[in-house]
Amino acid sequence: MSLKALLDALPVPILQAPMVGASSPEMALKVSQAGGMGHLAGGALAPADIGPAVAAMRQGTEAPFGINLLMAPKARPDQATVDAALARLAPWYAELGEDPPASPNEFAPDFDDQFAAIVAAAPPVASFTFSILTKGQVDALHAAGTYVIGTATTAAEARAWAEVGADGISAQGSEAGGHRGHFLAETEASLVGTMALVATIRAAADLPVIAAGGIMDGRGVAAALALGASAAQMGTAFLLSDQTAASAPWRGAIAAAGDDPTRLTRAFTGRHARGIENRFMRELRAVENEVPAYPVQNRLTQPLRGAAAKAGEPDMISLWAGQAVKLAGPGDAGEMVQRWWAEARAASDELAARVRR
Ligand SMILES: Cc1cc2nc3c(=O)[nH]c(=O)nc-3n(C[C@H](O)[C@H](O)[C@H](O)COP(=O)(O)O)c2cc1C
Repeated sequence: MSLKALLDALPVPILQAPMVGASSPEMALKVSQAGGMGHLAGGALAPADIGPAVAAMRQGTEAPFGINLLMAPKARPDQATVDAALARLAPWYAELGEDPPASPNEFAPDFDDQFAAIVAAAPPVASFTFSILTKGQVDALHAAGTYVIGTATTAAEARAWAEVGADGISAQGSEAGGHRGHFLAETEASLVGTMALVATIRAAADLPVIAAGGIMDGRGVAAALALGASAAQMGTAFLLSDQTAASAPWRGAIAAAGDDPTRLTRAFTGRHARGIENRFMRELRAVENEVPAYPVQNRLTQPLRGAAAKAGEPDMISLWAGQAVKLAGPGDAGEMVQRWWAEARAASDELAARVRR
C-alpha cells in the first residue's frame, strides 16, 4: 500500500484539515466515518494525550485518519523580550479587566516528545507543518506503519519533503485559513495561490498532492481533482459545522463575514496566519514585525484570546479563516462531506458534458 493508494481508495477524497482550536475529535470521527479522512489537531496536545486520542479514533472507525503536529522551534526568549511583549499587550488585557500572564516557563508542548508519542501510537497518517522532518524521523514513522504528509507552500518545499522520504504533500495555497506552513523562504515569498501551487508541486515532485486553500464546496473539490490533486483538504468549510470547537464570537464573525474579510497577521502568534481582520490586527499592524516569534507571542496572547472568547469579544480573538470564509455554512461534518462529494460528481458530469459538446 502507498499513501497514493490510500487516498485513491477513499470513498470521498476529502481530508478535514487539522485545526488547533477549531476542529475536534468528533469532527475527525464524523469525516472518517463518512468516507473522507478525519484529522486530529495534535499541535496543542500534551505528549501524554496523543496516544489516547489516536486510540479513541481507532475505536470509532476502521477508516483511515491522520494526526497533525506543529513543528514549533524550541523557545528560550530572554526576559527583556518577554517583558517588552507583555508590556505591549498590557492595555489589551486591561481592557478585558485581566492581568497579563506571569512570564511562562514553557511556550509550547515539546515537539520531540509529541513526535515520540505519535511513533508509539502508530496512526495511519501523520502530517506536519511549520518545518520539515529529518529522514531519520520519516523512517521512524514508516517503521511504525504511518504515512507522512508534509505541508508545502512552494515547489521547493515539496521537493525538500520528497528528499526526506515523505509520502505526500499538503499543498497550502495562500488562500488558506490559519497559520502559513512555510519553512524555506520568508512569508512574502511563500504565498502561491492553490491553483498555481498544485500545478507546480505536481511538476516538482512525484508524490500525491493534497490541495488546500479556498476549497469550500463540491465545485472546489472537483477543481482540485481536475488539477491533478489526489484529494482536497478543507478547513474553513468546517468552522460552522455541528462539530466545530470554534468559540461563539469566532463563529459569529464567520457568519457575518463580508466578501474579502481576511488578512495575514503576525500580531497574535509571531507567525503569519490568515484570519478575519479585527481591531487587534489593525492596531498592532505597525508593530507586528517586532513581536517575538512563534511560539512565544502565541503563548503570551493565549489568556487574552481565552478571556475575549468568554467575554464574547471578537476584536481580541484570532479569527482564523480562509479567503472564501463567506461560503462557510452549518451542518453535520459527515453530512457536509457527503454533500460536497455529490456536488463534485455533479460538477464533473457538467464539465464532461461541456468537454464532449
Ligand atoms: C482555524 C484553522 C486552524 C488551523 N490549524 C492548523 C493546524 O493546527 N495544523 C495545520 O497543519 N494546519 C492548520 N490549518 C491550515 C489547514 O491545514 C489548511 O491548510 C487550510 O484550512 C486550508 O484552507 P481553507 O481554510 O481555505 O480550507 C488551520 C486552518 C484554520 C482555518
